[in-house]
Amino acid sequence: MSLAYQLLSLLADGKFHSGEDLGNKLQVTRSHIWKLIQKITQWGVEIHSVKGKGYRIPMGLSLLNLAQIQNHLPIPLSKEIHIEVLPEVDSTNQYLLDNGKSKQKGFVVFSEYQSNGRGRRQRTWYSPLGANIYFSIRWSFDRDASELCGLSLATGVAVANTLERYGIHQVKLKWPNDILFNNQKLAGILIEMTGESYSNTDVVIGVGINVQMPANPAIDQHWIDMTTIIGHRPDRNLLAAYLIEEVLEMLAIFQQKGFQAFVKYWQALDAYYNQPVRLATATEIFFGIAKGINARGEFILLNQENKEVRFLHGEVVQVRSLEVYA
Ligand code: BTN
Repeated sequence: MSLAYQLLSLLADGKFHSGEDLGNKLQVTRSHIWKLIQKITQWGVEIHSVKGKGYRIPMGLSLLNLAQIQNHLPIPLSKEIHIEVLPEVDSTNQYLLDNGKSKQKGFVVFSEYQSNGRGRRQRTWYSPLGANIYFSIRWSFDRDASELCGLSLATGVAVANTLERYGIHQVKLKWPNDILFNNQKLAGILIEMTGESYSNTDVVIGVGINVQMPANPAIDQHWIDMTTIIGHRPDRNLLAAYLIEEVLEMLAIFQQKGFQAFVKYWQALDAYYNQPVRLATATEIFFGIAKGINARGEFILLNQENKEVRFLHGEVVQVRSLEVYA
């Protein structure tokens, strides 16, 4: 474990620690502690430094811990998967795409920090340290790649169930992969394919959940975090275990029954149903009324000529409600 990460663990309690005390614990000088503090700040963690008192992380942090995540999981389920918790990585999705040993089905990775977290359509997923959940799982289906759109939507239902278990009830889903609360983004999903042969598809499913964002995050869309919604900092290890359970349950059902099993649950959470929307593909802009999804998970738009048009998730750049941000 790096010194910076050890320092972070000491500061995670949210109390003041003097530079001298921290230096003694880590066996380094006070100026070395100062340098490590700069590094932690670059990871996106807010640190208060007060003369005579020392350093403190306001509100503290709930750091991820493998043993605690495993303790929260039912024993049979924890035997089905392999979990790794990393202090930092470029992207948890990329880690599973690159890493030879992680090619096995059921390999799960969490990271405290992503230096190159990615969102849909080459966007950056802002990933400050210790603040949120960055999760990926590797899976393999004996189903065709054309069903991946449904998989992204079914994952949305699993994330909504995870948040529901944590007491967040009014979550909505925005096609194809956004999890919203009061029209602000609370979580996102990125599914990447790793291999495909006839009726067999290997995927990496990535989920990012905003848990406890630092002040002024570099995000260019309306967002919210769990701490703001529930009024206190969630236990990230418990949240991580809930997420694993819900995603694995979803995958088992998806494998057996396909997306059809999730349609009615997704529709019940549809953020834009019957709302006027603007839909952008790479080449065109469409206006119409959102009419939910079909059994394959495609988006249905009632266009201005009163005709229903279907969209696949790969071709859509953005869907926006014309009511919410009018
Ligand atoms: C989106 O809404 O655009 C998708 C965001 C997906 C973010 C998660 S965080 C864990 C995993 N690793 C990544 O680099 N991205 C996904």
